Amino acid sequence: MYVCICNALKDKELEAAARDNSGTVADVFRRCGRKPQCGKCLPEIAQMIEDARDFGQPSALAAE
Ligand code: FES
Repeated sequence: MYVCICNALKDKELEAAARDNSGTVADVFRRCGRKPQCGKCLPEIAQMIEDARDFGQPSALAAE
């Protein structure tokens, strides 16, 4: 499924980029070799980064 229409970036590609770095939305775009344009997808990509961080922290799972 396309998340970023402007750059034709799909969820799988963006999720992989979000998992591979602990940076910002701009870092995810950089990793995909693209730049944000309209910005409509930015909240969803920010959520992907947050999910990747939460998933990587065992203490977050233990607290649930
Ligand atoms: S939809 Fe991603 S920058 Fe426009």
